[in-house]
Amino acid sequence: MEWLAVIEKEIRRLLDPHVKAVLETAEYLFDGGGKRLRPLLTVLTCGMCGGDPQKALPLGVALEYIHTASLLHDDVVDGAGERRGRGTANMIFGNEVAVLTGDYMYARALNLFTRHGNLEMIRVVSSAVMEMAQAQVLELRRIGDIIDEEEYFKIIDGKTGVLFGACMAVGSMCGGYAGSEDLYDAGLRLGRAFQLIDDLLDYAGDKSKTGKPTGNDLREGKTTYPLLSVLESLDREKVIKVLRNASPVREEIKNLIDEVIKKGGVDRTRERAREEIDQVREVIGTFPPSEYREEILRIIDFVVQREL
Ligand code: IPE
Ligand code: IPE
Ligand code: MG
Ligand code: MG
Ligand code: MG
Repeated sequence: MEWLAVIEKEIRRLLDPHVKAVLETAEYLFDGGGKRLRPLLTVLTCGMCGGDPQKALPLGVALEYIHTASLLHDDVVDGAGERRGRGTANMIFGNEVAVLTGDYMYARALNLFTRHGNLEMIRVVSSAVMEMAQAQVLELRRIGDIIDEEEYFKIIDGKTGVLFGACMAVGSMCGGYAGSEDLYDAGLRLGRAFQLIDDLLDYAGDKSKTGKPTGNDLREGKTTYPLLSVLESLDREKVIKVLRNASPVREEIKNLIDEVIKKGGVDRTRERAREEIDQVREVIGTFPPSEYREEILRIIDFVVQREL
């Protein structure tokens, strides 16, 4: 089964708004690309646990709606101009329509869970969304500051890890697996690694592959792992000046990015992501061999090696 193609079709079919502008905004985002990792993980985890993956399909789609809603809102909050290789929805349709289309997607996701899921799944998913919102507020409050590792991981677990956790937990529940907490934890680690690499790509990525420009995080005043990991060998005052935007912006940011890369910040970040992934691979390795398990293992490898 080519799950990606099936997911692609269902994402468009199940959204079902009756206001054209909502559909337009949503399709604009869907058509821009996106890796669909969250629905893939949901469906494949269900299959790996011995369930019928087809049953997990609307749940995976709902989780992709939650992800898409978070992107719509994130780009408003971050004031971002590019995503998936095109202008962000807020730039094209305005902040108002972007926010409200995001709201529609959150609600549609929960609506799908009431039809195709159960209360236990809704508990996990609603908790994840609560964590996502709060982690991003935490992140906002620390704009312009150097944060420590503990705070960094708290933020990335909340904004990204928990949703990956929810995908694997929901997939496993759908597959009738009794230990969904273990798969939630594995998903959380996978999401942590995923965000570490997202933060790495913000330093050393290729825009033609990621679909978003580099340097956003520093421009937004955010301390992420590449910077954190080499902080002891940098001039703190200079770093704070860049984070607070009190310096000749473009040149200073570019110089700091180059310095972080030269000092090994990008390599250290990939290494840190690998540590998380090794533990995820171990958990997945305990499941009986199947095409689903193999596909999940491929996704796990992709997460640390990816350039997009
Ligand atoms: C981007 O997520 C936001 C983060 C959590 C880092 P993805 O990189 O999964 O976005 P798409 O869906 O593939 O565009
Ligand atoms: C991703 O954080 C978190 C969510 C979308 C919830 P980023 O702000 O780093 O995501 P990108 O880099 O804009 O995709
Ligand atoms: Mg952003
Ligand atoms: Mg953000
Ligand atoms: Mg990012």
